Amino acid sequence: MSQQVARVSLRDVQLPVAGELEQVVLELRRVIAADFPIVSEVNDHLLHMKGKLFRPTLLLLSHQAAGLKDPRAVTLAAVVELIHLATLVHDDSVDHSVLRRGLPTINALFSHQIAVIMGDYLYSRAIIELVRLEDHEALRVLARVTNEMTVGEMRQLEAHDKLAYGERAYDELIRAKTASLLSGACEVGALTAPPAFRHALARFGMLLGMAFQITDDLLDYTQPEAVTGKPSGLDLREHKVTLPLIAALARVSADGRRVIAELMEAAEPGDDLVSEVIRLVESAGGLETARQRALDLAQQAEAELDVLPPSPARDALQGSIAYAVERRS
Ligand code: IPE
Ligand code: IPE
Ligand code: MG
Ligand code: MG
Repeated sequence: MSQQVARVSLRDVQLPVAGELEQVVLELRRVIAADFPIVSEVNDHLLHMKGKLFRPTLLLLSHQAAGLKDPRAVTLAAVVELIHLATLVHDDSVDHSVLRRGLPTINALFSHQIAVIMGDYLYSRAIIELVRLEDHEALRVLARVTNEMTVGEMRQLEAHDKLAYGERAYDELIRAKTASLLSGACEVGALTAPPAFRHALARFGMLLGMAFQITDDLLDYTQPEAVTGKPSGLDLREHKVTLPLIAALARVSADGRRVIAELMEAAEPGDDLVSEVIRLVESAGGLETARQRALDLAQQAEAELDVLPPSPARDALQGSIAYAVERRS
């Protein structure tokens, strides 16, 4: 894939499954419905926070591209979005983030305690739904993936020696915390397809998921919150070492390294320090290196689609790769 990837809109990617995605939103509403006041209040807020529905999109496109047509795919897609939502509610509490999808997070609007309980509430509703569907294989994949995600979040939290944090450790981290769910979404969409399709789609989702998270980490450096709907520069303020910084650390001068160490030691780094480190990362080529890595992974993801027969859904999966690395939010 060249440096310049054609712009693909999310709408284009979602076109072959647009009708099903509308049903996914209704299914999500049904699955999380509660008759306990505070739970339904939080649910209402969450249903107002509109996400991209990228994981349900991947599940439904994989299903279609593998030649399948089972109406239960819509419910599975809603379950996958629900697992994602539960992890976001917990992630924002862990990251002390106050903005998600352009709206206040649960921890900001309610409390950290409520975010903890609601993450568990949403996740357990996803499990109840999977058990109701009696789809043991989907349950197996998604239970494993959710467990991997928790280990990924723990890896991030426990990365103590910031300046020594390397690309290998980062790869492991993004594979676990993000790519595992995108892979699981693609695999669950193709569970009843020939094994060659199922496994290629699982690998596709893993590679795409890594490119997706690297792009997310780049957006944290490059885009304002009005565009992403999330606070910008939060990774540095939270002392999170992501690929742009890892790549820059390999090249910065001793002075630059000292500034980065200063940020990592400051309990609450100020805006000036954050801006200075962002400039350092950019001038050391950290953003460019990270972008190149996302493009390499995107190219590998694309190759996995070769086993699938041509179809509009396969084209859309291909488009989802360009979307994942070119998106602004
Ligand atoms: C955010 O995921 C968390 C990451 C793994 C980067 P999305 O960017 O898919 O978030 P929403 O669902 O569209 O809000
Ligand atoms: C993504 O982690 C959340 C999970 C995969 C659980 P980040 O903390 O990097 O994502 P954002 O930036 O909050 O969406
Ligand atoms: Mg976060
Ligand atoms: Mg992030």
